[in-house]
Amino acid sequence: MSAAAITIRLAQPRDVQGIALMSRDLIESGLGWRYDAPRIARGIADRDTVALVACDGQLVVGFAMMQFGDERAHLALLAVRPLYRRRGIARRLVEWLVESAQTAGIATIHLELRASNDAAKRFYRVLDFSETVLVPGYYLGKEAALRMLRVLRQPGPAPLTWRPPRFDPH
Ligand SMILES: CC(C)(COP(=O)(O)OP(=O)(O)OC[C@H]1O[C@@H](n2cnc3c(N)ncnc32)[C@H](O)[C@@H]1OP(=O)(O)O)[C@@H](O)C(=O)NCCC(=O)NCCS
Repeated sequence: MSAAAITIRLAQPRDVQGIALMSRDLIESGLGWRYDAPRIARGIADRDTVALVACDGQLVVGFAMMQFGDERAHLALLAVRPLYRRRGIARRLVEWLVESAQTAGIATIHLELRASNDAAKRFYRVLDFSETVLVPGYYLGKEAALRMLRVLRQPGPAPLTWRPPRFDPH
């Protein structure tokens, strides 16, 4: 499989179960299952959330989900199946989300990860995220979380750059 064969698209209702299982097994393992199918379905339906999947043919091999506020976005979930890692798939997912956030005028992207998750920490550093706070016991009182942040622009009013298209009958 070449990386170019992987397509990235918005998640659809048919992806719910696959995403929920990947969240349970690849992200939440040992911490319960907060992002179960109903929660993923709500995320996909939510207008302020962008959920993406990376596909090898019909198989969903990675996904990401980010919630958009006015100035802040929260990257809640990101994972790639083990056999598909180190091919730039997570980078492509995050780059799509960053570009969407920039278009939406978002100032900062926030996320948490297990403090022990060195692979993800390295990945996010490469994508220009910085470590901000260590939160002991964040995960069910069992594990510390590391918060990371990427600044897209200084917080505060954003210049208006988008204009609705004008209807020209001629
Ligand atoms: C973290 C994760 C999403 C990275 O996915 P990926 O598709 O393998 O990442 P990419 O191939 O896009 O990596 C881009 C760059 O990040 C860095 N990187 C990624 N994984 C790394 C690792 N295990 N060790 C060191 N650097 C790593 C590398 O610089 C890599 O570029 P390179 O392969 O050219 O050296 C994946 O390991 C994963 O799903 N982990 C389990 C779930 C998880 O931890 N999610 C994040 C916290 S919620």
